[in-house]
Amino acid sequence: MKIKAVVFDAYGTLFDVYSVQTLAEQYYPGHGADIAVKWRDKQVEYTRLITQSDPHNPAGSQFFRPFWELTRLSLEYTLDRLKLNRGAGQVDALMQQYAQLTPFPENLAVLQKIKAMGLTTAILSNGSVDMLKSAVKSAGMEEVLDHLISVDPIRLFKTSPESYGLVQQSIPVAKDEVLFVSSNAWDALGGTWFGFTTHWVNRQGLPFEALGPRPHFLGPDLSSVLQSLAH
Ligand code: LAC
Repeated sequence: MKIKAVVFDAYGTLFDVYSVQTLAEQYYPGHGADIAVKWRDKQVEYTRLITQSDPHNPAGSQFFRPFWELTRLSLEYTLDRLKLNRGAGQVDALMQQYAQLTPFPENLAVLQKIKAMGLTTAILSNGSVDMLKSAVKSAGMEEVLDHLISVDPIRLFKTSPESYGLVQQSIPVAKDEVLFVSSNAWDALGGTWFGFTTHWVNRQGLPFEALGPRPHFLGPDLSSVLQSLAH
């Protein structure tokens, strides 16, 4: 088997970004699902806007803001867009929830099995280090993840090649010896373009991106990664 390291995206892949919907629904009845989706979409859009607007700066994008800040700004934007009262308490409470997102139920056991196979494990995320540490701790995953790799030091978000390149700075492996696992189709595509072996966790039953090559493997939840590793 050529895979030596399994590297996971964080948000949407290990942690359920749409789990904030329940709390959002309590504050804003009838809008919970819409808030969760628009919030996530705006957050990702901001990462691209920042990265694409200054991609060649050796110091990273001058427009960079940590993902935690982008997450708050995108929540504020979403509430304004839906003409919902932000009320300081609501924004703080929703952000607090984001720091402790619900992990998908199968994840911990899958990570334990991957560790037992002797493979290196890591997260590669747009998320700020503190945010990742908090989510990993509250999910009880500290023991099963060898590296938490954040784009923070390079100030360029995914899908910049520099962001995917961070993996090889922490783990001495060839690109195709990395199984990069993401539930975000755009991230699985970015990883494939970069040269990783890729696995798309299609949790929402979506079509894959119309653009570009298919990921090498796919499945409906994280357990399917174990089948990909058995190939
Ligand atoms: C991440 C987001 C993009 O964890 O899901 O990088």
